[in-house]
Amino acid sequence: MCEERYLTFALGKGRLAEQTLGLLERIGITCEEMKDKHSRKLIFVNEEKKMKFFLSKGGDVPTYVEYGAADIGVVGKDTILEENRRVYEVLDLGFGKCRMCVCGPESAGELLLHHERIRVASKYPVIARDYFYNKKHQTVDIIKLNGSVELGPIVGLSDVIVDIVETGSTLKENGLKVLEEICPLSARMIVNQVSMQMETERIRTLISQIKALQCAEGVSSCES
Ligand code: PRP
Repeated sequence: MCEERYLTFALGKGRLAEQTLGLLERIGITCEEMKDKHSRKLIFVNEEKKMKFFLSKGGDVPTYVEYGAADIGVVGKDTILEENRRVYEVLDLGFGKCRMCVCGPESAGELLLHHERIRVASKYPVIARDYFYNKKHQTVDIIKLNGSVELGPIVGLSDVIVDIVETGSTLKENGLKVLEEICPLSARMIVNQVSMQMETERIRTLISQIKALQCAEGVSSCES
């Protein structure tokens, strides 16, 4: 009989990875090595379950999964939409909840009503373009930034921004407001398309275990 192969997980570094490890632990999948915050190791193994875990930049998770370097990935819906990779999105994990929004000073609300050619700064140019061009049919200039996007309207780089809003405190502290909501976001599990065929049973079992846990814990996405 051939030996079971490792199921490899790519996890976006930071809070999402911590929450994912917590979730996996609650269904009996642990990886002690990974809890050592001082470790510089990038890949961790659970020999008993034949699973491997690695941490990468969130934006790279869909790439590892599309190419099969990881069978499974956990990443925010924002990254899935922005990267647009050929992967299966199989589960809403129900944490990391926030919203993708068009934000700006209140006065910029007018500019969204009359299809004016405005400047939109964002870390998410694909999402911003799709929203303005395909949903609102508004021609805009998209300016790609890499962080602290709220600066855009404050320093006069852009009229509005497209960005993630979680608590809303970054907007509030900078005198900006949510002008339009694009979509809700949360952490999702994605699967490589070939792995889904080759490892159907293991992956389906994992998904069912997480869904059962979500229902037991009263997570709102447990029916989806
Ligand atoms: C994200 C996002 C907002 C902020 C929203 O930025 O881009 O700036 O969090 O959170 P809030 O609504 O709870 O205030 P992040 O912290 O990832 O840093 P960045 O601005 O450098 O991208």
